[in-house]
Amino acid sequence: MANRLESLFSPESIAVVGASRSERKVGWEILHSLLAYRFRGRVYPVNPRAGSIHSIRAYPSVLDIPDPVELAVIVVPSAHVLQVVEEAGTKGIRALIVITSGFSEVGPKGRQLEEKLEGLVRKHGMVMVGPNCMGVINTHSRVQMDATFSPILPLRGNIAFMTQSGALGVAILQQARNRGVGLSKFVSLGNAADVSLHELIEYLEGDDQTDLILLYIESFGQPREFMPIARRVTKGKPILALKSGRTEAGRRAAASHTGALAGPDVGTQALFEQTGVLRANTIAELFDIGAAFSMQPLPQGRRVAVVTNGGGPGIMAMDAIVGVGMEPAVLSDKTTAYLRARIPEEASPVNPVDLIADADAKRYGLAVGAVLKDPNVDALLVISVPPIVEDEVAVARSIWRAAKKQSKPVVSTFLGRGEQSPGVTELVDHSVPTYLFPESAARALAAMRRYQEYLERDEGTYRRFRVRRKRARAIVETAVQERRTRLHEMEALELLRCYGFRIVRSRLVDNLPEAQAAAEEIGYPVAFKAVHPEILHKTDYGAVVLDIRTRQELDDHHRTLSLRLEKEGFEIKEWMVQEYARGGKETIMGMNLDEKFGPMLVFGLGGIYVEVLNDVVFRLTPLTDADALRMVRGIRSYPILEGVRGEPPSDVAGLAESLQRLSQLVQDFPEIEAVDINPYLVFEKGKGCKVVDARILLTPLERGAR
Ligand code: COA
Repeated sequence: MANRLESLFSPESIAVVGASRSERKVGWEILHSLLAYRFRGRVYPVNPRAGSIHSIRAYPSVLDIPDPVELAVIVVPSAHVLQVVEEAGTKGIRALIVITSGFSEVGPKGRQLEEKLEGLVRKHGMVMVGPNCMGVINTHSRVQMDATFSPILPLRGNIAFMTQSGALGVAILQQARNRGVGLSKFVSLGNAADVSLHELIEYLEGDDQTDLILLYIESFGQPREFMPIARRVTKGKPILALKSGRTEAGRRAAASHTGALAGPDVGTQALFEQTGVLRANTIAELFDIGAAFSMQPLPQGRRVAVVTNGGGPGIMAMDAIVGVGMEPAVLSDKTTAYLRARIPEEASPVNPVDLIADADAKRYGLAVGAVLKDPNVDALLVISVPPIVEDEVAVARSIWRAAKKQSKPVVSTFLGRGEQSPGVTELVDHSVPTYLFPESAARALAAMRRYQEYLERDEGTYRRFRVRRKRARAIVETAVQERRTRLHEMEALELLRCYGFRIVRSRLVDNLPEAQAAAEEIGYPVAFKAVHPEILHKTDYGAVVLDIRTRQELDDHHRTLSLRLEKEGFEIKEWMVQEYARGGKETIMGMNLDEKFGPMLVFGLGGIYVEVLNDVVFRLTPLTDADALRMVRGIRSYPILEGVRGEPPSDVAGLAESLQRLSQLVQDFPEIEAVDINPYLVFEKGKGCKVVDARILLTPLERGAR
């Protein structure tokens, strides 16, 4: 598949269809960019009204071009696009970049036009970026193609930038240029009618010009297809993404805890966490982190040293380092002694190493060298505060020279200096990313460390459990045939049992004598619950009584509950008698089917308080065993499961296995819309877990999910 994109990125010849004679127009700009960036192949302007454009002979149509053409950039008004594409196909053109807007982004009419466009592209076996895009860049020295209308020519480098927003494209290219960040490829995807984000990522995986992939994403087309590809690619090349519009996922508020707990951004978060995609919050941060990745090696640990010529900024930097989850390095005695002998008495030879305000290039050089050599240091942040330094370039030079001698990451902050100041330029030109403030530098180091940890982490394996699938299928089928969207209490418990869940002993009964018999059989103490289709959260209605110890108590509760609920309008025809399970901790486990992201699993601690605590972790299915364990460990209150104040640890492995079983269940039955296992009791390590209550909802037939 990757080869299909070769004609797009490395064509030998390009036709610009709609190349304009007028300098203000997009079609003129594109031709101009190709020429200004010195495209290595041949360029053919196409315009029925022009003999030549930019001193190059123009052709009325691609069919009039006497030579073969590999790529066409299309910049004609939307009404002409289909005809131009048909001609391009006839001509044997392999790839298209359609800049023109007025397609699916403008509504149903545009959507129809886009479908026709897709049909033509498919018919002729072409590949297309767009429509409604800003273009494509390949900076490779053998290609040098800038097929965009951006006036900013890119620097060559090792970062590929893919953006869904064309409007931001110019700003992105401008930022890259200002920051000295070089690009290998740039693609504005537009409506992505043909070439998709994941196809591009797969291509970039094998692109030896690209070491790092930056993404600006507005909406996931197919997150499920993105997932396995991203998971694989990130093990070789980092992917750093800015996802805007944090309102996409989890919008369907199903009548379940799980649905209510799903915030607007959980799908993206889960996807990124599971695939190792790093996240930036702003475009500036995307470049801050991107620059560090593209210029510096990854830190092998979290210990960061600071070298500064100002005490305050040094402390600020240490705070920032701790704030992003890194650790202050403790310099070895050897390093401290070495520094103490060579820096002024008022200076500080411990981390943060303060070289004081009159520090010159020599002092910086020796300090940076010594600190980087220290085995207790994994990364270095160098700060320079300008006023006293008369020659910032000399300081910058001694920093990068010392940095080059070691294979540890070095980032710097020239406080109060702009991106174009000579010291900053000197550092960036020699691959030391330089930031205006230490917070940005610290964030960049932390992101690199996170990635290194991701590379080291075990992704685990997908386990498949032996389950009673036929029996489970029968339960679901019965509900579907009866056009129910909710499984009965006992069905839900039984379905979970088929998938290896342990259930507290439960009996569904119709009347008091049956309840008495069930309680005798199960053995006191028991829990007693009123069952009614309209009572979703039983505790909210006081429909649950726990720890009933005698037959007399059972009789009393049956009477009072019946009367009270009847007054509230519920005629109770069914009751649940359950073993009263003691000792475990209450957790919640569930699944909510998201329109975009598919089944999203949730795990948290809290039982009835879960909505208040909101301490839950979401993940997408399928889960590996390692994913499941990380999910359990991912909640804030995880230490409670490990055991606090002398409590024994809980059965974390049991919880992780349950999550994998739940993952298998919802993968096997796409008709399941939501699962709530709440409470799910977890006992001491080795003693497993038990379902106390479960609700399972099915997708209504009319929604067409089945
Ligand atoms: N084949 C070749 N050239 C053609 C043509 C055809 N079938 N039909 C028209 N042209 C020529 C025109 O003669 C004109 O050249 P001229 O200026 O020398 O006369 C040129 O193509 C452009 O056509 P014009 O009608 O002037 O359109 P335009 O430049 O005003 O707009 C687009 C064309 C594609 C830029 C416009 O339709 C559009 O989509 N703009 C939005 C682009 C955008 O924002 N994309 C997304 C970015 S994120």
